[in-house]
Amino acid sequence: MAMVSATTASTLFLRTTLSRTLSFTTKPSSFYVKSATMEGSEIKEEVNEGFNVKKKIFVAGATGSTGKRIVEKLLAKGFAVKAGVRDVDKAKSTFPGDNPDLQIVKADVTEGSTKLDEAISDDSDAVICATGFRPSLDLFAPWKVDNFGTVNLVEACRKRNVNRFILISSILVNGAAMGQLFNPAYIFLNVFGLTLVAKLQAEQYIRKSGINYTIIRPGGLKNDPPMGNIVMEPEDTLSEGSISRDQVADVAVEALLCPESSYKVVEIVARSEAPKRSFEELFGSIKQK
Ligand SMILES: NC(=O)c1ccc[n+]([C@@H]2O[C@H](COP(=O)([O-])OP(=O)(O)OC[C@H]3O[C@@H](n4cnc5c(N)ncnc54)[C@H](OP(=O)(O)O)[C@@H]3O)[C@@H](O)[C@H]2O)c1
Repeated sequence: MAMVSATTASTLFLRTTLSRTLSFTTKPSSFYVKSATMEGSEIKEEVNEGFNVKKKIFVAGATGSTGKRIVEKLLAKGFAVKAGVRDVDKAKSTFPGDNPDLQIVKADVTEGSTKLDEAISDDSDAVICATGFRPSLDLFAPWKVDNFGTVNLVEACRKRNVNRFILISSILVNGAAMGQLFNPAYIFLNVFGLTLVAKLQAEQYIRKSGINYTIIRPGGLKNDPPMGNIVMEPEDTLSEGSISRDQVADVAVEALLCPESSYKVVEIVARSEAPKRSFEELFGSIKQK
């Protein structure tokens, strides 16, 4: 009989698919640390109620179209959420009601890492960044938000010893190296303040930071419900395609639960002809670089 125990109350991942399954099949609304006993393929579990801990995830850009979906899915999965927003009143109408697992904090990523550090504080276990510049007359907005803003978040994580970072980036960020310089999408997105270049710079900063990252690069985002199954490819592979924001949010949340997502850059779109695959399969199919 082999003994399998989850690591500590402060460890973000339950290290195995086994422990993940246990967490969500038995107590779907909570993310528990527990111990389990495994006999061959038969699993017995011992829930250590004294160690029940909800992981708290800081979501930057929580009032955005993808960010709000991420918040909703995190809460539905049993996480606690700290929603980092620019406008607290807007956030209160985006997330009506009084959910004790949802905390709203002001967090403008352009205001520097010290304020973000205070917002993330000591109680965040991971950060999901779903920010994106809002079009304005400021041509430097993409650079301020999608590059420096993300770098500020990473710095704040380092100060607070938060060692898990999920970034929503974009396909084609490395379009120049992919031979996609003349891809209309690459040109269009870079015309407005070098948006893709800004995102690529931020990605590179994260990858050198030492923090356990998952960089998710979706294709064109749609508000519609999912129209096909998720296709996941390695970095610098996809140059077209689209995906529902619901699916992007699913991938971001599942990355927290799936150890196979660590230190990886994944590109995602949805295709109706693609086979349905589990998140373990999807993340497991991508090699670390
Ligand atoms: N649109 C696409 O087709 C597409 C394709 C691939 C990747 N992406 C990327 O996917 C991500 C999510 O896209 P989306 O369309 O869902 O986003 P979105 O609706 O445009 O939301 C962007 C979020 O970023 C926040 N934000 C902007 N400036 C900020 C700042 N200085 N500090 C803190 N937060 C700030 C916004 O706050 P407010 O709510 O206060 O405005 C908003 O919550 C973005 O990074 C985007 O570039 C988009």
